[in-house]
Amino acid sequence: MEGRGRAHEIDGRGQKGVPVSSIRTVASPRVINIEDLRLLARRRLPQVVFDYVDGGADGEVTLRENCRAFDDVIFRPRQAVAISNCELGTRVLGLSLSFPVILAPVGYSRLMHPAGELAAAAAAGAAGIAYTLSTISGHKLENVRAASPGPVWYQLYLVGGRQVAEATIDRVRRAGFSALVVTIDTPVAGMRERDPRNGMKELLGGSVFAKIPFLPQILTHPAWLAAFLLDGGVPNLENIVIPEKGPMPLIDVTAALSKAAVTWDDLRWLRQLWTGPIVVKGVLTGDDAKRAVDEGAAAVVVSNHGGRQLDGVSSSLRALPEVVAALDGQAEVLMDGGVRRGSDIIKAICLGARAVLVGRAYAYGLAAAGQIGIARALKILRDDAERTLRLLGCASTSALNASYVDFPAHWRRKASP
Ligand SMILES: Cc1cc2nc3c(=O)[nH]c(=O)nc-3n(C[C@H](O)[C@H](O)[C@H](O)COP(=O)(O)O)c2cc1C
Repeated sequence: MEGRGRAHEIDGRGQKGVPVSSIRTVASPRVINIEDLRLLARRRLPQVVFDYVDGGADGEVTLRENCRAFDDVIFRPRQAVAISNCELGTRVLGLSLSFPVILAPVGYSRLMHPAGELAAAAAAGAAGIAYTLSTISGHKLENVRAASPGPVWYQLYLVGGRQVAEATIDRVRRAGFSALVVTIDTPVAGMRERDPRNGMKELLGGSVFAKIPFLPQILTHPAWLAAFLLDGGVPNLENIVIPEKGPMPLIDVTAALSKAAVTWDDLRWLRQLWTGPIVVKGVLTGDDAKRAVDEGAAAVVVSNHGGRQLDGVSSSLRALPEVVAALDGQAEVLMDGGVRRGSDIIKAICLGARAVLVGRAYAYGLAAAGQIGIARALKILRDDAERTLRLLGCASTSALNASYVDFPAHWRRKASP
């Protein structure tokens, strides 16, 4: 992708070179919470890109439920406790995180903002947390790794087959990624109904005539359009390199995903190939979590892909206690789905998660204002989480447990023996 369009100024330590106007765009009182960033993203992006980020599969039942389920968890604070030092940090797979959040893999990030994955890695590193780079990425994995002073994980899809994955994993190892995240809930792409309605396929790769009906939404967002064109237009997928052809065009992803289901057999093969920790992302039952650990996973992510795959599955939060009980400390348990507030992070930890991944919460920030928007999202989540801990009367995230919350009894379903 070098040579396409502008260079992206990324500063892993913070916000050097960021225009004051961008900082103001996401400052208080314009942006107080993640929903405010979502509204800014909606204003800056053409509908097709916004809906790609915001939407879910089919009737979006699971998408809504992911957020709503947090309302079913009620705090039980310990009052009259003075906390001088509040410790938010945690360790995940041996890595120190300044607070218990990891940026989830978000495909097509370069469509949301030209700095895309570079900005996300840099913002995560500056905040002292980890970033997960998706296979569906527009920037080279080596450059993304270099953009963060902190840990970076690589999320693997088997798009292009095992031979392509082997070459990528070799690059991932040499670049210094610290974990491989294998997503197992994507045997085919979910049916995200907003995408075909908005002309996602036509706009990414269709003929000029096919694009015409969908152009008004693009032309009415000139700032996004100018940045997109200066960046060189639709990016290639720099980390899926097809032998003798080069990087895969972004348009081919949906078809390629349907031929790239990951099975337990692939996990065994990956275990031989990758000596670092493997994180299996997309488990929703205790049985699958145990299977993942039997196949060599060091951690699992309780996840329904942000409600973008099988609609009608349970929220991730509801599935969390079953997985925690089934693994009983044999592996680390992470979760994602619906985290929009620091109090959501604290609730997930009370239910047994070691940390949460966030997807849309930072993608909205990226779309709204690039790296500075992600930094704002992370500051909101961190400040919220600290305030929640203090209001709960708990001095550290490591001291949280189920005694700080009430949650529906039927969430505690036992895993099969
Ligand atoms: C726009 C978008 C793209 C995503 N792309 C990927 C991906 O490439 N690989 C993956 O494993 N998960 C992907 N996910 C799922 C996220 O990693 C994560 O599971 C989900 O966003 C969590 O839900 P949340 O958005 O409510 O935080 C994507 C999610 C979104 C919103």
